[in-house]
Amino acid sequence: MAGIVVVGSQWGDEGKGKVTDYLSSKADIVVRYQGGNNAGHSIEFGGKKFALKLIPSGVFSGHQVILANGMVINPKALIEEMHYLNENGVSTDQILISDRAHVILPYHMEIDAFQETLRGKNNIGTTKKGIGPCYVDKYARIGIRMGEFVDETLFYERLKEVLALKKREYPELAFDAEAIFNEYKEYAAFLKPMVCDTAIVLDEAFQEGKTVLFEGAQGTMLDIDYGTYPFVTSSHPGATGVSEGTGIGPINITHSVGIIKAYTTRVGAGPFPTEFDDEIAHHIREAGHEYGTVTKRPRRIGWFDAVVVNQSRRMSSLTGMAIMLLDVLTGLDTIKICTAYRLDGKEIHGLPSTVKDIERCEPVYEEMPGWKEDITHVKSFEELPVNAKNYLNRISELVHCPIYLFSVGPDREQTVIVNEIMK
Ligand code: IMP
Repeated sequence: MAGIVVVGSQWGDEGKGKVTDYLSSKADIVVRYQGGNNAGHSIEFGGKKFALKLIPSGVFSGHQVILANGMVINPKALIEEMHYLNENGVSTDQILISDRAHVILPYHMEIDAFQETLRGKNNIGTTKKGIGPCYVDKYARIGIRMGEFVDETLFYERLKEVLALKKREYPELAFDAEAIFNEYKEYAAFLKPMVCDTAIVLDEAFQEGKTVLFEGAQGTMLDIDYGTYPFVTSSHPGATGVSEGTGIGPINITHSVGIIKAYTTRVGAGPFPTEFDDEIAHHIREAGHEYGTVTKRPRRIGWFDAVVVNQSRRMSSLTGMAIMLLDVLTGLDTIKICTAYRLDGKEIHGLPSTVKDIERCEPVYEEMPGWKEDITHVKSFEELPVNAKNYLNRISELVHCPIYLFSVGPDREQTVIVNEIMK
């Protein structure tokens, strides 16, 4: 039995798709446990590039895939994604959806956009997919869950009840219960056969000694509690999200894989201590294709930040790291690594809790010599130029965590294993 979780260890977009794709060949079941279609990962399969937002990458290997209870699911977006896969010859027959997952409906997206407008220049820069407002409903105990959604009578009753409340809360917005019901009941009927208690399915899998891969979305710096609050998403992207998001206890997680970029990026607003914006940042953005998968926004660029990744290691009990996009740093004379922050004259190793204090943090940098050699064909750690080896070793030392693998290009073949995740 093994439970492997893949954790975005910065602000998301670390390249989790490539690692989950690699690991899904070893797994029997692949599970998404939080977030919704705010996530986006691209995967190459059969010579084609696919962009997925909701469906775990295990769908390509024909494994059972589960959209678990911690997720917020836009049914329309899910069905579109299924059709897109089917049209490209990928079967979606093996998808199961938790009856406890919350449903994103059009009013969640409207409220998301409306709240962003109200925040004005202090907006969070959300993806406007309704993620936050749907989680708000979950915790306010007025959400509509998949189990209710696929029961036509119940769905209608709940929708009327919820929209009566929403109309009082948002008199500026027009919500049309009949129109939503008429459109969405069709989606509900389509999804109904896939909806079940997925925690039971997972428990049975563990009892049978199977391997389950939990695929995190976003990154730990966007965690609702430990991220750069309020510039965060509304779920727990790290390993802490697995138990509450699947109904399976934490002891089932045997491997926790932190995915990090060899540098750092962030989309949306919020503090970012190692951010810089000069010609080197521009070079990294272009070489790393650093534009959002969902919103196409250019990503903000920063140096590798050990404070951030150490926080991810702590929160997710990382057993090892996958370092992505190492090749993007090729050609730089020197590379900076942030080892700590300086705040009020003191060196600190944890992120302050307030945005105000994070913004006052000055990164403490170490500079390391870069490398000029092309590393895109490297097949082992030993083949790397000495400066690239030193860079990886220093990251591992600063984060107190071994390296499982590193990546030197987008192709599946450009993944170099240092230590096998599952021997
Ligand atoms: P929300 O998740 O749409 O509410 O957006 C909240 C914050 O999380 C914004 O800064 C988004 O840009 C960021 N975010 C959400 N999903 C992702 C992701 O998959 N990658 C990177 N950033 C994300």
